Amino acid sequence: MAKRLFITKSMQKLMTESSDTGHGLKRTLTATNLTTLGIGAIIGAGIFVLTGQAAAQYAGPAIVISFIISGVACAFAGLCYAEFASMIPIAGSAYTYAYATLGEFLAWIIGWDLILEYLFAASTVSVGWGGYVVSFLKDFGVHIPAQLSAAVGTVLVDVPKIGWRPLTDSFVAELSKMHITADTLPHVTAIMNLPAMFIVAVLTTLLIIGIKESANFNNIMVITKVSVIILFIAIGFAFIKSGNWTPFIPTNTGEWGHFGWSGILRGAGVIFFAYIGFDAVSTAAQEAKNPQKHMPIGILGSLSISTILYILVAIVLTGIVSFTKLNVADPVAVGVDEMGASMFWLRPIIKIAAIAGLSSVILVMLMGQPRIFFSMSKDGLLPPIFSKVHKRFKTPYISTIVTGSVAMIIAGILPIGILGELVSIGTLLAFAIVCISVIILRVKKPELHRPFRTPFVPVIPILGAAICLAQMVSLPFDTWLRLIIWMAIGFIIYFTYGIRKSKLNKELNNKTIK
Ligand code: ALA
Repeated sequence: MAKRLFITKSMQKLMTESSDTGHGLKRTLTATNLTTLGIGAIIGAGIFVLTGQAAAQYAGPAIVISFIISGVACAFAGLCYAEFASMIPIAGSAYTYAYATLGEFLAWIIGWDLILEYLFAASTVSVGWGGYVVSFLKDFGVHIPAQLSAAVGTVLVDVPKIGWRPLTDSFVAELSKMHITADTLPHVTAIMNLPAMFIVAVLTTLLIIGIKESANFNNIMVITKVSVIILFIAIGFAFIKSGNWTPFIPTNTGEWGHFGWSGILRGAGVIFFAYIGFDAVSTAAQEAKNPQKHMPIGILGSLSISTILYILVAIVLTGIVSFTKLNVADPVAVGVDEMGASMFWLRPIIKIAAIAGLSSVILVMLMGQPRIFFSMSKDGLLPPIFSKVHKRFKTPYISTIVTGSVAMIIAGILPIGILGELVSIGTLLAFAIVCISVIILRVKKPELHRPFRTPFVPVIPILGAAICLAQMVSLPFDTWLRLIIWMAIGFIIYFTYGIRKSKLNKELNNKTIK
């Protein structure tokens, strides 16, 4: 039994699979496409929503340090991903790397875990997208009914000057600070989140039509969001009031994680979400023209550019406006408001950038998930239908439709406030395993050709894994519990389906019988 669980896929087999052109996917992506895919997946809700909230609640202006800490941890993981992605350019990403090093069972666990990252992130971010679109349309006099803009059963209240907001416990507390009783406000119960479902449906269709078409759309979104972010940084520098940075590290309130150094660490954990996505580049390995050379450029290039932009936005935002005012859904827009009436024109532009940013995140997440399913199905761990490639479009269309449909249901119907942290814990687990796998493969197969080598092995992978685990530990117990339940479901599926259907296990059995 142990032999079956820990059976690994030989490098020779992986190399053959990666050079096999009969898998049906089309090799069209250049280094620039891969880098923009990475930026597309990274810059989104994290910077447009979470930065302000993390600064206001945990770190103050020192959120800049949180960004640096989280960025360094991701850089370590990114270096490990780059080694694997250049060496094993197969669509399965961390799942495939684990299959080569840790064995089938752990590979399955990682593949199952990656659903938390890609599919759930797509749903989470599409809800954020819906929020921005509703607010953008409202500015132009187009009103989407509140009933159609939140998960089924969500109670929304209409607050003067703020608009419709979900009636959560924390919002009730906020209202009471404003001396408003929720009962006195008009309220409705939502039926579904139509905008969130709409964007998932549109992007799923685009992904079915073609990888090149999707990459082109992504390029436009990335150019839009990055240009506006650079514009915000450039203009924002002139409006910085150094008083907003004093004290740079606000004194801890006495509670762990609320300002001071513990707040900086907690802030780093929260804004880790902003960095998620660079690894999605590795899922497009089988569609890259020259994966050996271009995978590391795509992964590390997108991560570096996003990190620099994040740090600059954090510096400017906390310089323009007091961090205490940033606990809102649109902190960057609040920053623009603070610049004064002459800068009002920038407000809708920021919203357009946020919408573009979130669109590309959803797109790349919805692209990554089917490609992992594709690899798992090729290995027999998922039904063969998941690796069916469309004859004309050359895309894994069935798994794309499955991913899109599930993401749509989650985004449109389920209340998903809890999903963000689940996405983070799932991603951190994958990162930690990839870091550890680099060391294992260096020991087991030192002779393999590695077009890109992670520097200072084992120090960098150990630090990468340790920081990821530390960030996991800092997440609440409830999130751990959800992770454990998710994994338990994965165990059941593996032991009732995967282990019996695994192609590698079948080969092992055949050899034993012979
Ligand atoms: N990093 C992505 C975002 O911030 C998931 O939206």
